Amino acid sequence: VIDGTGTVGAGLEQGYTLPAEWYGDAEIAQLERERIFARSWQYAGRLDQVREPGQYFATEAGHIPIVVTRDQSGGLNALVNVCRHRGTQVAYGEGRRETLQCPYHAWTYRLDGTLRKAPRSEREQGFDKSEFALVPAQVDVWGPFVFVNPDPDAPPLEDALGDLPGHVERSGVDLAAVRFRQRREWEQEVNWKIALENYLECYHCSVAHPSFSKLIDVDPDSYTLRSSGLVSSQFGPVHESALNGTRKGIPYVPQGAVTQAQYHFIWPNTTVNIDPGAMNISIDRTLPAGLRRSVGTTDCFFGEDVSSETEQAMLDFTAQVANEDQALVEAVQRGLDSGMVPRGRLLLNSEHLIQHFQRLVYDALAS
Ligand code: FES
Ligand SMILES: [Fe+2]
Repeated sequence: VIDGTGTVGAGLEQGYTLPAEWYGDAEIAQLERERIFARSWQYAGRLDQVREPGQYFATEAGHIPIVVTRDQSGGLNALVNVCRHRGTQVAYGEGRRETLQCPYHAWTYRLDGTLRKAPRSEREQGFDKSEFALVPAQVDVWGPFVFVNPDPDAPPLEDALGDLPGHVERSGVDLAAVRFRQRREWEQEVNWKIALENYLECYHCSVAHPSFSKLIDVDPDSYTLRSSGLVSSQFGPVHESALNGTRKGIPYVPQGAVTQAQYHFIWPNTTVNIDPGAMNISIDRTLPAGLRRSVGTTDCFFGEDVSSETEQAMLDFTAQVANEDQALVEAVQRGLDSGMVPRGRLLLNSEHLIQHFQRLVYDALAS
């Protein structure tokens, strides 16, 4: 039982943060694996990786290896990528194959997960191949994005996304028209929650992201935060002077289909970013890779006619913001690890998305 006295839960309601020790604790991390990552919808990869029969890609849902496949009858599958023999990871990378063969003893699975062949199993009494299919997970698609959920009983993706598809539609980004350009991979020496809490507020933007703040109006009266269900959203208007090119020091000229920045978080670890200017969208996943280590990927999409110069300028901008954040979040981890400030105090007008996130963490672990 966590929080037997109810202190943590009551503190959250008053604007206090989760306890510092939750950001580097093995027991908490184990509960998070079971009660958060094994049960929720998470971005897994791109639809263009599994468009045709035979295509597959290996990915993860939190700590759980998953392989997403397009089987011979056209069905899209997410399968737990763990061999039913002795537990080796079966599929790696991405590509096109008739079957998935485990590298250890060559058990071979069809792309729908059923076990096709287990060498020497015919010598065994009562060995029934139909009992050893790869464990299925849920899979669904939103635009070019494939999501998975290891929990077969979880409510559908649509419920998790809530109003998000509507927000994106109104942003000027047409999900049917964007094309994948590149994937970026990153790692941070922080607990996964620190990385996402940093994403969930822009209180630090004017202090820590000077070029971002020249482009986007981060004033609390302009920049809006909204949470609804499992999605938390930030909407940032562009400075008029950045749009008409009269502002000095802007990272790029944000002219194009998108007139407002949108930064969306989908519980527990997917984030969707739309920057102002040319048609663009990117999607990140943040995976716990240790108590104090997170790894992530960012898949970047642009409208078909967006030039590679514009792409580069916009991605340089994002990379700079990410660099500025990296130093900040790693400093948070060191501070929390000191144990000397057991609870932080949120400013709820500017940081209520963090409160919402921490309630979701708390409710999941305390359930
Ligand atoms: S662990 Fe996969 S075939 Fe043995
Ligand atoms: Fe930041």
